[in-house]
Amino acid sequence: MKLKKLVLTGAAGRLGSYLREPLSKMADELVSTDIAEDIGTLYDGESYHRADLAQYDEIVPLLEGADMVIHFGAIVDEKPFMELLGPNFIGSYNIFEGASQHGVRRVVYASSIHAVGMHKKADFIGIDAPHRPDTFYGLAKCFTEDMGSMYWDKRQLESVHLRILSAAQVNNARALGSWLSYDDLIHLVTRAIDTPSVGFSVIYGVSNNDRAPVDNAKASFLGYRPKDNAEQFAEEVLAQTDAPDVTDPGEMCHGGPFAKVDLGQSGLAQMNIVDDRKKT
Ligand SMILES: NC(=O)c1ccc[n+]([C@@H]2O[C@H](COP(=O)([O-])OP(=O)(O)OC[C@H]3O[C@@H](n4cnc5c(N)ncnc54)[C@H](O)[C@@H]3O)[C@@H](O)[C@H]2O)c1
Repeated sequence: MKLKKLVLTGAAGRLGSYLREPLSKMADELVSTDIAEDIGTLYDGESYHRADLAQYDEIVPLLEGADMVIHFGAIVDEKPFMELLGPNFIGSYNIFEGASQHGVRRVVYASSIHAVGMHKKADFIGIDAPHRPDTFYGLAKCFTEDMGSMYWDKRQLESVHLRILSAAQVNNARALGSWLSYDDLIHLVTRAIDTPSVGFSVIYGVSNNDRAPVDNAKASFLGYRPKDNAEQFAEEVLAQTDAPDVTDPGEMCHGGPFAKVDLGQSGLAQMNIVDDRKKT
């Protein structure tokens, strides 16, 4: 089924750069939005609109007539609460309330493992693990997931919350479990869109890694069957890895470095994320 209109927030971001082309093929019209100046050459059917997620009057008019919103825009790191309040908390409210006002059917949300980041990796957590945020950043993901649950119960607005582990190049031991390849990300978002009925759903965004530390069994109705496996990188990565410190939450918890940093302190600064966004 081809949709009429999709809206993608965070279109200028790294993950957005991989989603724009496949999303543009799924609908007659793709409205891409971000706070960035521009996003490069547009795909057929795509238009770009600069808007601040935190400003209701800027973002909500873009949702008019949309079938679904793919909500990936956010500040993507741990910061002081007041810096995240606008984009990550109020921005999510604007998307859900605006979607509801405009009769949008579904929101597909880029949640994160950091919503449950303080759980121990040894606990092979499922999608029903209680929220246990590791940072204010993770707290915003918990807030948005709970908002999705509430908007489903009260307004019948569907949402799928993709708890992405780490969609970035595999250059450390944690990523052997947490990697989500860009191809699997596209497959995951496609399933979140084309599954006929989703209600309020949660699913982990992780590839078919031998060492994946989470369990998607209860989300199998979404038909997400990842193909990539980070084990192909294991020999090289492990040759450069020391034995883990079992007293370090950064090593032992799902949130990795975010589980270790103090509130308001960057988690990304401890990670070596390669900016390999797709160029258009
Ligand atoms: N990359 C990962 O491994 C990962 C893991 C878990 C969750 N996620 C989630 O996936 C989404 C995309 O992540 P990414 O890696 O592409 O990050 P990114 O930083 O590359 O993209 C985020 C985009 O959001 C935009 N944005 C920030 N503040 C905004 C505002 N006020 N108004 C409008 N747009 C704003 C930024 O300009 C940026 O283009 C985020 O919601 C992130 O939390 C990513």
